[in-house]
Amino acid sequence: MVMEYTHLGNSDVTISRICLGAMGFGVPNEQHPWTVDLETSTAIIKEALDAGITFFDTAYTYNDGTSEEYLGEALRRLATRDDVRIATKCPPPDVGTREQGFTDGEWVRHCLETSLSRLKEDYVDLFICHWWGDDCNMDEVLSTMSALVDEGKARALGMSNLFAWELAEYNARTEERSLHRIDSVQGHYNLINREEEREMIPYCESHDVALTPYSPLAGGRLTRTPKHQGDSLRGRIDHIGVSKYGATLDADAPIIERVDELAQKYGVSMTTIALAWELTTVTAPVVGVTKPGRIVDIVGAFDVKLTEDDIAYLDELYVPHKLVGVMARFGR
Ligand SMILES: NC(=O)c1ccc[n+]([C@@H]2O[C@H](COP(=O)([O-])OP(=O)(O)OC[C@H]3O[C@@H](n4cnc5c(N)ncnc54)[C@H](OP(=O)(O)O)[C@@H]3O)[C@@H](O)[C@H]2O)c1
Repeated sequence: MVMEYTHLGNSDVTISRICLGAMGFGVPNEQHPWTVDLETSTAIIKEALDAGITFFDTAYTYNDGTSEEYLGEALRRLATRDDVRIATKCPPPDVGTREQGFTDGEWVRHCLETSLSRLKEDYVDLFICHWWGDDCNMDEVLSTMSALVDEGKARALGMSNLFAWELAEYNARTEERSLHRIDSVQGHYNLINREEEREMIPYCESHDVALTPYSPLAGGRLTRTPKHQGDSLRGRIDHIGVSKYGATLDADAPIIERVDELAQKYGVSMTTIALAWELTTVTAPVVGVTKPGRIVDIVGAFDVKLTEDDIAYLDELYVPHKLVGVMARFGR
């Protein structure tokens, strides 16, 4: 396996084409009761670095800040700062943040400064707004993010969980207002949730915006056959995953079975096939891991060259899904 590297959109940030997600690292809480401790997180991060992964994703909200703390500590122990790329995300402001006395811009600044102190770093390589906020002034959010790049606290900007028209409107105005553009989009995209293909993927491809989707393995559902979903702790207790994939189990099962068929044909794991498919379209998927030993199958995706017939076979059975999670905010 040889890791591939590329640019993050139009920015000067180079990234590995696999990003390791840190949502599973930290102290368990109600939202993520399946997270792992610092020792296990560090062992997984070491495996990732050894395999050439240089791109890591965390968020202000993950596990009450402990995800950022664990990631920062492990990277300080194991890597040189210039050799790794750290992305973090801030939740957009809302009524609650205004009640705390923050203007929308102050909230964004507060989030990044808190994230930097948890990471014990001076800057992040990618600063992402976690979802498009409907209860805030997104112009103020994005112009503050842009100012934080000018101040050297972030190198590039991203958005997560938004519609293509929202990104297009913002990026179209950045040049005339001398603001930094959005260079990457972290959307929800995998073999059993392909709604990003309608507009976001074509938009990003034609405007040099990096696609760095989350949950490329559908939170683990593409790594084992439907009858084995309960084999992992997360498979049993991940209520967020159930809310995203529970309604489409019957439609998704035959697609997951086809991932298994191709895994057997190539003599690799289902994880490898699902990621090989994902890598035919996206810049760098953000993969989650809570057990050592997983990285080899993840990076093995670069060694499998799926044929056009394989891709058509994996694509064939998908039917449009309702939007889930924060993307269902317009109720459609
Ligand atoms: N922007 C957003 O709104 C948003 C939302 C969700 C996630 N994210 C980001 O995306 C990252 C990934 O999300 P995710 O965890 O939902 O995605 P995922 O990569 O689709 O799923 C992770 C699951 O796949 C399993 N897995 C990974 N490699 C495996 C292997 N080689 N063999 C068997 N199973 C394997 C893991 O199992 P084990 O846990 O047993 O290792 C884990 O349960 C997060 O860490 C976070 O950084 C962002």
